Amino acid sequence: MKNPEIKTVQGILELRELRKNLPAPVGLIPTMGYLHEGHLSLVKQAKEECASVVVSIFVNPSQFGPQEDLSSYPRDLQRDLQLLQETGADLVWNPTTEDMYPQGYQTWVELEELVKPLEGSMRPGHFKGVATVVSKLFNAVQPMKAYFGQKDAQQAAVIKRMAQDLNFPIEVVICPIVRAEDGLALSSRNIYLDKNERQAATVLYRSLQAAREAFGSGERNAGNLRHIVSDMVNREALAKLQYVSCADAETLGELERVSAKALLSMAVYFGKTRLIDNIILE
Ligand SMILES: Nc1ncnc2c1ncn2[C@@H]1O[C@H](COP(=O)(O)OP(=O)(O)OP(=O)(O)O)[C@@H](O)[C@H]1O
Ligand SMILES: [Mg+2]
Repeated sequence: MKNPEIKTVQGILELRELRKNLPAPVGLIPTMGYLHEGHLSLVKQAKEECASVVVSIFVNPSQFGPQEDLSSYPRDLQRDLQLLQETGADLVWNPTTEDMYPQGYQTWVELEELVKPLEGSMRPGHFKGVATVVSKLFNAVQPMKAYFGQKDAQQAAVIKRMAQDLNFPIEVVICPIVRAEDGLALSSRNIYLDKNERQAATVLYRSLQAAREAFGSGERNAGNLRHIVSDMVNREALAKLQYVSCADAETLGELERVSAKALLSMAVYFGKTRLIDNIILE
């Protein structure tokens, strides 16, 4: 059966009007667009669990650092709408920067501890932008459930914590990482990679798998697990490792030994393109 025509809306007041008529429960999937199967997996899971599915598409300037790729970030709204229509989303909210941050804007959401390590330490201010924009999306859409990907593991932890701390009556659902056939985690930023870099980028997942294998054979020394990853990345000529972490999956604090659930995560540059990936060890 063909899906009903998807609705798109830009302004917050129009969004609120359309939101009133959506059957409950409403699910929200926040995205920055240039959609791929990772995003669509979130939409599909929301469709399973919710009567109405809202997707926001907003390239949020406040989560990009001054040296980051805001101006070159890939965009293709027509293609995104086509994919969301086919997948069966009900409403797409595509606000402008002016809609979200009008003249005089000055209110921000910040977390104290969870944002300090990993991505937060490499991208100062990133999670302030993320937590703020997601709060604004939550307030505007008022979903019962919101869907995020495990690819951005620290983001998932930050949003869960924030939703709890600020009493958002929203269940935060974390969905598994969708990967290409060769293991590379899907990301909108993969489009930046040239042919050789795309080939080399398989080293993220390959190195995580090597560490998982060692963990399976009983390796519990976190330093050794980190070393397995860094060693493999360092042998890939096109890859430049930014960090590898073996941290407590709850607190994100770096570990010496793995005893409870651990997050093994990494960031790697290929030229100017920065990719992240992770696995859970338990
Ligand atoms: N491969 C993936 N599998 C599952 N979820 C994903 C995947 N990639 C992105 N997501 C999730 O989709 C949501 C929107 O992410 P976003 O629009 O930033 O896409 P992205 O691919 O992460 O882009 P970029 O890598 O450029 O940040 C986030 O919750 C993110 O974790
Ligand atoms: Mg992203």
